[in-house]
Amino acid sequence: MNDMTPWEELGGDAVFAPLLKDFYARISRSPIAKLFPPELSETEQKQFAFQSEFWGGPQRYSPWRGHPRLRARHLPFAIDQTAADTWMACMAEAVAHSAMPSEHRDAFLERMRMTAQAMINRTAPDAPAHPM
Ligand code: HEM
Repeated sequence: MNDMTPWEELGGDAVFAPLLKDFYARISRSPIAKLFPPELSETEQKQFAFQSEFWGGPQRYSPWRGHPRLRARHLPFAIDQTAADTWMACMAEAVAHSAMPSEHRDAFLERMRMTAQAMINRTAPDAPAHPM
């Protein structure tokens, strides 16, 4: 019987702490860096707390930040398909360089991809505002 939580199966704190440090280093060098605060350590802590809770690990996010309301929290930032793709590329590279067990990587990334798609709140600048 396997009674590990998904958080434990993904590697828990030992995998996510360095993974998210690497992820935000990649974000800071990416074309979407300008959307983020210049200093990313608190953003990294929020993401760590969120991932922990999301995958059934310790409840670290909601006691601190309340209900995630992720889409609402992202509305102030202009996120189009390209921004979501860039976010995902940074995450995929961070996962590739992490110690996350290889058999769980695809499932993790697919869930992140679905969530990133849900954060899109702008059409691309060159797309028609009201397609006929
Ligand atoms: C689609 C591309 C995305 C972009 C461009 C983006 C951008 C941002 C930005 C600019 C912030 C504010 C940082 C701060 O104030 O510290 C933020 C916060 C956050 N993002 Fe994203 N994000 C994206 C996708 C995601 C995804 C897929 C997740 C979850 C899997 C996520 C989870 C979070 C969390 C938990 C916070 C902190 C919310 C809070 O407590 O204030 N983001 N994001």
